[in-house]
Amino acid sequence: MASFDYEHIVCECNKVSLGEIIYAIQEQGAKNLNEISKLTDATSSCGRCKSLQDDFGDPKLKLYVDEILKKFVELDK
Ligand code: FES
Repeated sequence: MASFDYEHIVCECNKVSLGEIIYAIQEQGAKNLNEISKLTDATSSCGRCKSLQDDFGDPKLKLYVDEILKKFVELDK
């Protein structure tokens, strides 16, 4: 994964930053997309920020919630 600032907006619809998503995973125990969505609202509108496969936008987003989830949930194990 490339390097991103905590302020990087991952979910454009709901203005959810990388830092908020990491906080949901590490401090609030989110372990899947549904839990991140409930805690942060990320992915809850158009859904393109879930994954590259879900990104219908042009240009494509640079970072997706599923990538963040994989990275941090795997680090936790
Ligand atoms: S960009 Fe996240 S729901 Fe639309």
